[in-house]
Amino acid sequence: MSHLILGVSGQIGGNLATECELRQQPYQGTWYRWPQNDATPLDVRDAEAVAGLIAECQPEVVYLVAGMTQIDYAETDRDECHAINGTGAENVAKACAQHGAKLVYVSSSHVFGECPTARKEDSPTAAINVYGKSVVHAENAIRAALPEQHLIVRTSHVYGPEERAKNPALHAVRRLSDRRKIRAAMDRHCQPTYGPDLAAAIFDLVKHDCTGTYHAVGPDKMTEYAFASMVAFLNGYDSDDVEAVSAIELGEEATRSRTLWLDRAKLRSELGAKAFRSVGEGLRHLRDAERIPALRAA
Ligand SMILES: NC(=O)c1ccc[n+]([C@@H]2O[C@H](COP(=O)([O-])OP(=O)(O)OC[C@H]3O[C@@H](n4cnc5c(N)ncnc54)[C@H](OP(=O)(O)O)[C@@H]3O)[C@@H](O)[C@H]2O)c1
Repeated sequence: MSHLILGVSGQIGGNLATECELRQQPYQGTWYRWPQNDATPLDVRDAEAVAGLIAECQPEVVYLVAGMTQIDYAETDRDECHAINGTGAENVAKACAQHGAKLVYVSSSHVFGECPTARKEDSPTAAINVYGKSVVHAENAIRAALPEQHLIVRTSHVYGPEERAKNPALHAVRRLSDRRKIRAAMDRHCQPTYGPDLAAAIFDLVKHDCTGTYHAVGPDKMTEYAFASMVAFLNGYDSDDVEAVSAIELGEEATRSRTLWLDRAKLRSELGAKAFRSVGEGLRHLRDAERIPALRAA
């Protein structure tokens, strides 16, 4: 099977590329501002360039993990966010439809607002920030253009190996190793998801010919403060360097829901209970991985 990863220079794109290599499957990828060897520069807002690349590569599966992910910045530049995440997804979906490729889109828990109870794949969306609304737009455009040929995978709080170390776990470790404190919300929940498990689950869903929407998150629900404390503890740092604050004290531009609960039953019924490791297992695996020396315990 041939794979085209739009956004291979990003965190999840990098995890998908690693999974391709593990499975010895050929892939091609694109970057936008972060050049990658053997990959192609692409701006998903450029419909002609998107169509040209898909026509040239003729992939069986296209993975759309290219997008604007700076949730606070999106509030101040909503047009740019909608152009990249919304129109960009439309461009990709139309080109896939034209060339008969399946499209896998990595979506977000931000399509929902507060989730005091579990949200299933067909629960109504209710995004409360610009980024979330752009992702809802992308999902709808993809379903409309590729009714039978799409796989939308909603995830959240992805941590794991990443060249730029900006995900919640590696970012925390970087600060702690620089002897800087971390502030983390004690009143906001997350469902931490280990990136390599997410990549493997996506490939398994594709292999099983799954289509439609799936929630793919790790098994634990915890506060962002509890997650940051675990990162500190498991990497040999002082947990007291993680300060518990209320979300409001973080002074973020974008409104974020305090409660988060993506129901995982559909994914579990397809891939089993062990598809995603627990936070403890994921953080230990990340710490011990040879390729991330910065994470070895001090
Ligand atoms: N990480 C999470 O916790 C999470 C959770 C839910 C959903 N998602 C979604 O999953 C996708 C990937 O997330 P990520 O964490 O891997 O993000 P990331 O590390 O920020 O990577 C974003 C990717 O998008 C590319 N990109 C940005 N603007 C572009 C444009 N105009 N045209 C083409 N490519 C562009 C970037 O290229 P350069 O780096 O080369 O500029 C990069 O490859 C995003 O759509 C995100 O919304 C992520």
